[in-house]
Amino acid sequence: MKNNLSNIKKAIKYLNNNECVGIPTETVYGLAANAYSDKGTLKIFKLKKRPKKNPLIVHYYNLNDLKKDCLISLKFLKLYKKFCPGPISFVLKLKRNSRISNNVTNNKKNIAVRFPRHQLTRRLLKVLKYPLAAPSANLSRKISPVSKKDVVDEFGKKIKFILDGGRSKIGVESTIVSLINKPKILRLGGIERNKINKFLINKNKKKYKIKNIVVPGQGKIHYSPEIPIRLNIKNPKKYEAFMLIKKRKISKKNFFYLSKKKNLKEAAKNLYKTLRIIKKNKFKSIAVEKIPDIGFGETINDRLIRASK
Ligand code: TXA
Ligand code: MG
Repeated sequence: MKNNLSNIKKAIKYLNNNECVGIPTETVYGLAANAYSDKGTLKIFKLKKRPKKNPLIVHYYNLNDLKKDCLISLKFLKLYKKFCPGPISFVLKLKRNSRISNNVTNNKKNIAVRFPRHQLTRRLLKVLKYPLAAPSANLSRKISPVSKKDVVDEFGKKIKFILDGGRSKIGVESTIVSLINKPKILRLGGIERNKINKFLINKNKKKYKIKNIVVPGQGKIHYSPEIPIRLNIKNPKKYEAFMLIKKRKISKKNFFYLSKKKNLKEAAKNLYKTLRIIKKNKFKSIAVEKIPDIGFGETINDRLIRASK
């Protein structure tokens, strides 16, 4: 606890100086900077080698802080009350007098925001006088980090400080919901699609269907372990790493279990970690068992399909 306090103080010091800091969240680790600072946010793009046209998610402590920068609707409030703090991001309209740096939004009038649940980062956000812009703390297009060590793997000494909050509990990024015009899920993630849909669809008049479209930063190639991936495989080749979600009678050295009980939430949590381990073990290709396309399985398949391109 004492250690945490001094680490939070360190993080504040760096952030106040417009430096980037690694922060833990329940989804994945973020590379954070003062969202009001042009200088700080610019450093995020440079470190990640991220195209400037790919906007950042801004992390807030609570609704009061958010209201300084964003316009909110009843629909938003409903989702906020149900899911926040938690693994969900919202695309909202920016207020005209908001202080958010133009780097964050790529000069657009919409902004993605989220309220992380991780206690350490919440304590940090509570004392800061500004929200934190934080994309996942990985090089652009690569695998997202789920521990402090993963962030070090990505950036080495290029980041001055990382707040260590242990392993991320959810292990995949937040679900992104756009509340501009008709609500839409833009990215599958840490909350299952049907849980969110329940709140968006008007039960009496099912006027619209929630479509799944892609956010600017989630191109066809993403989450790349830089090794070929084959999906829906029953029997892998000898030299391949094999990712499974259900225990087999005979396990082999090249078997990597995302779950042993077909638990899709557990499998999502282990996905990025396992891809990193396989990469470290220098396998030349990855085979993946068929993963049911329901609940968290949808999120896993979304990531694996992009990773396999
Ligand atoms: O769980 C998460 O969301 C993590 C943690 C660190 O909070 N963050 C994260 O950020 O995944 P990032 O930058 O890796 O992914 C954010 C995605 C990008 O694909 C970006 O294009 C999209 O959100 N995005 C950001 N602002 C947007 C906006 N105004 N409209 C639509 N998409 C937006
Ligand atoms: Mg990312």
